[in-house]
Amino acid sequence: MGIDKKYVNWRDSMSKNIEWGKLGFAYMKTDFRYVSRWKDGSWDEGKLVEDNNLTISESSTALHYGQQCFEGLKAYRTKDGKIQLFRPDENAKRLINSCTRVMMPEVPVEKFIDACKQVVKANEDFVPPYGSGATLYLRPFVIGVGDNLGVKPAPEYIFCVFCVPVGPYFKGGMAPVNFITSDFDRAAPYGTGAAKVGGNYAGSLYPHQLAVKKGFADCIYLDPMTHTKIEEVGAANFFGITKNDKFVTPKSPSILPSITKYSLMHIAKEYLEMEVEERDVLVDHLDEFKEAGACGTAAVITPIGGIQHKDKFHVFHSEKEVGPVTKKLYNTLYGIQFGDVEAPEGWIVEV
Ligand SMILES: Cc1ncc(COP(=O)(O)O)c(C=O)c1O
Repeated sequence: MGIDKKYVNWRDSMSKNIEWGKLGFAYMKTDFRYVSRWKDGSWDEGKLVEDNNLTISESSTALHYGQQCFEGLKAYRTKDGKIQLFRPDENAKRLINSCTRVMMPEVPVEKFIDACKQVVKANEDFVPPYGSGATLYLRPFVIGVGDNLGVKPAPEYIFCVFCVPVGPYFKGGMAPVNFITSDFDRAAPYGTGAAKVGGNYAGSLYPHQLAVKKGFADCIYLDPMTHTKIEEVGAANFFGITKNDKFVTPKSPSILPSITKYSLMHIAKEYLEMEVEERDVLVDHLDEFKEAGACGTAAVITPIGGIQHKDKFHVFHSEKEVGPVTKKLYNTLYGIQFGDVEAPEGWIVEV
């Protein structure tokens, strides 16, 4: 018996010839994306399309007044060949918060998850194989479109989800990197920091470039009000492990609530039996931590080697080696995402 040769050949000709091991984090046109339009008070059903260009009015609010927001999540191939999403309901809820903040219509949670599933299924050949460390990155976004001139909410909206296969963040294995605190702020005290809106990222490009020019991976943003507390590490949340093994992460209304961070808090507490604290992290008291890291969907965890603040360079565990608690947190989360470690109820959605 065995598999019909004709079928195998057809599958081969359909495969995308992608060198999974060489993938970075770069745009690649995949076959299908989901597009839904909002007009006169409701979303249409939405559909998959092949064209990766959007045609919109030159007067769209997304282009002039930054009325837009986005999300980022991944699809993972498991050992038995299945494909799964990690906590897409949390991305859906965060998109609703972002939409509400910039006066755009909500995309219902079910519509969001259905769109993500449709896009993954339609681009199945782009989902990297288990073991490559690569994943399929999904980018949902909402933009204000239609004819408009004044500063006010748009008359029409587009919700779109596209996907791109991306490589493992650390090609040669996980390694610590160094950061420098920034004199710039990414968000105002009661501004849009907790929403995933494009303006926050436009404003971060220059401070990022300054940090890279000085030889650091990225900058660390301090609280915009007093510049004494750590808020974010580039486009990732911060965590530190205290000398008595507490998982500590900053609490502030101008931080983007990272789904990875809240997942790590749960893992620290329930899987590693650590105490967890969300509270102020003073940049002058970094020696309370024996390890530190940045966390987010893209990197899972980036171990922090050291932080430059004014004329002081503080090294945590090591500039070369990853600390043991950071490693355990990473392995547990990575295992859950790829289906090798049992996930808490509701975290995994099969495609
Ligand atoms: C500013 C910022 N902080 C933190 C994160 C990490 O969030 P998540 O873990 O949900 O990817 C992201 C990425 O979405 C981000 O852009």
